[in-house]
Formats: sequence, structure tokens, C-alpha cells
Amino acid sequence: MSQLENLSLFQNRIDNFLKQKLAEIKINDQRLFDAMNYGLLIGGKRMRPYLAYVTAEMLDLDLDDIDPIAAALECIHAYSLLHDDLPAMDDDELRRGQPTCHVKFDEATAILAGDSLQTLAFEIISNHKFKRISATTHIKLIQMLSFAAGYQGMCGGQAMDLAATDKVVPLEQLQTIHRLKTGALLQAAILMSARCREDLPQQTYNGLQQFAEQIGLAYQVHDDIIDITSNEETLGKPAGSDLDANKSTYPALLGLEGAIEKEQQLFQQALSALETLPYNTRNLSNFSTFIIKRAH
Ligand code: IPE
Ligand code: IPE
Ligand code: MG
Ligand code: MG
Ligand code: MG
Repeated sequence: MSQLENLSLFQNRIDNFLKQKLAEIKINDQRLFDAMNYGLLIGGKRMRPYLAYVTAEMLDLDLDDIDPIAAALECIHAYSLLHDDLPAMDDDELRRGQPTCHVKFDEATAILAGDSLQTLAFEIISNHKFKRISATTHIKLIQMLSFAAGYQGMCGGQAMDLAATDKVVPLEQLQTIHRLKTGALLQAAILMSARCREDLPQQTYNGLQQFAEQIGLAYQVHDDIIDITSNEETLGKPAGSDLDANKSTYPALLGLEGAIEKEQQLFQQALSALETLPYNTRNLSNFSTFIIKRAH
């Protein structure tokens, strides 16, 4: 993962910020608090924070204004994983090389930890005293987060993913599922940062949106691929889980070669979108390469 510039710097930055936010919580139920910590702080590549930070750097923003965005996105992502692993959903027992939250604790605690991480995301972003953005932009960020996380984003995609299990769905539908369940939060990471640059020309915002859409989809296509081509030790989650559960995935629909071809196309389209931007897009371009090369 070393090809991502400043990855460990931003991973440490977000980890410290998240630890600080958890430390501010007044404990009532210790077990629930422990499960939230477990879901949020044990491992994770921190890709959504990374995208938010490198986009902000590219746009010359104050990173103190990006911390709450990165943290809120990571809280939503962590909650989505706690729920995704539950028996009612993917029924997986390993995540980030550790027992999944409901295995380590219990199902009710994993559900509530997910719920609490979701609301923590909104607490963090709504309570933050931003330095450089207006109140209107602050509200806009909360709207963007809600949209990406909810029915019209991640949750809607997760429901469609479950409905597409044990079925062959049209490619277009699979694309919508992946764009929603995974693409929406990754896209939000880039676009919420971009919104903080209040004088950004619409054309530049549109170019970033194009880029974000392609890499958001590519991220899940590659997740589908490594479910087959990698192993449990590298993934830190069960290999072959999609096959076992008869999930609708790109390799299931197009074959492994077809799925690899698809991610290559998305990669090229992502790079083309970057070429339209009047900025140094090196980190975003490296991120695109990283997505389709990563082994976990
Ligand atoms: C896994 O996401 C689930 C998907 C949305 C593809 P990540 O690959 O970002 O998982 P962590 O956070 O690094 O564990
Ligand atoms: C998960 O997709 C997307 C989420 C919103 C959590 P997957 O079910 O493929 O993610 P993994 O493979 O369990 O990490
Ligand atoms: Mg799933
Ligand atoms: Mg899963
Ligand atoms: Mg997967």
C-alpha cells in the first residue's frame, strides 16, 4: 500500500481524531462503548478519510475542516460493516483479521454499536466549529452525508444487494447496486471536501464528480475480484464469501476476465476525468491505480 503518498500520515491523523471523539463520550453502557471502539478503531485502510484529505490538499483547504468530514464518513463506513457482517446480511465471522463484532460481542450489541456509530457521525459533523466554511456549506455537508449514507445511497444499495442474492440480475442493476452500496460514500469523501472550497467552479466540481463515480464503482468491482483471487489471511475477511452466499458480483456476471476488463475501463475513465482538472491530481491518480491493484 506504500504507493499511496502520505497514507500513514492521514491514517494516524484520522485515528487520533476518532480516538479523541470516542474519548469525549460519557460512558453509560460499557459493553456498547467497547463494541463501538472495536468496530471503529481496529484496523481498516481509512480510504474514505484518505480521499477526503488528499482532495482537500489538492484544493488547498485547511485540513482542520476536513477532520470531521473524514471522521463522519469513517463512522458511517464502520457501522455499515458491522451491519453487513450480521447473520441477517452477509453472515461473516472475520473482519480486518479479527472476529466480526457480533461474534466478539453479540448480535444486539453489534446492531446497537452500528446505530451509535451512525449517529456519532452526525454528532461529529454537526457539532464541529469549522474554520473556513459558511453555515450554508455546513448544512450542505450534512445533507450530502445523509444522502450518501441512506436510502438513496449505502442503505439502499445494501437492500438491493440482498435482493439480488441467489439471482442473476442485469448488469445495469448490478452497477446501480455497487454505485450505491459502496460508491456513494467514496464519492461523498471527494465531493464533501470539494464543497469546502466554496469558490470552486462548477465545471471543476463536475470533473471531480465524474472521477468519484468511476472510482467508487471500481472500488467495489475490485472488492468482488479479490473475494475470489485473494485469501483470508491477506483479506482479513473470509475469501470466497460472495461465492458461498451466491451473491451478485461482477465476476459472477461477467467472469473474472470480464470483471478485470471492467475495472480497467473504469480506471481509464477515472484518469480521463482527472485530466480535465486544473490541479495537481497525482494523489487521486495514484489512488485509482491503487484501487485496481490492491490485494486487500
Ligand atoms: C470494505 O471496505 C467494504 C466495501 C465497501 C468494499 P474497505 O475495503 O474500505 O474496508 P476497510 O475499511 O479497509 O476494512
Ligand atoms: C459491502 O460490500 C458494502 C457495504 C456497504 C458494507 P461487501 O459485502 O462486498 O463488503 P465486504 O466484502 O463484506 O467487506
Ligand atoms: Mg455485503
Ligand atoms: Mg460483506
Ligand atoms: Mg465484498
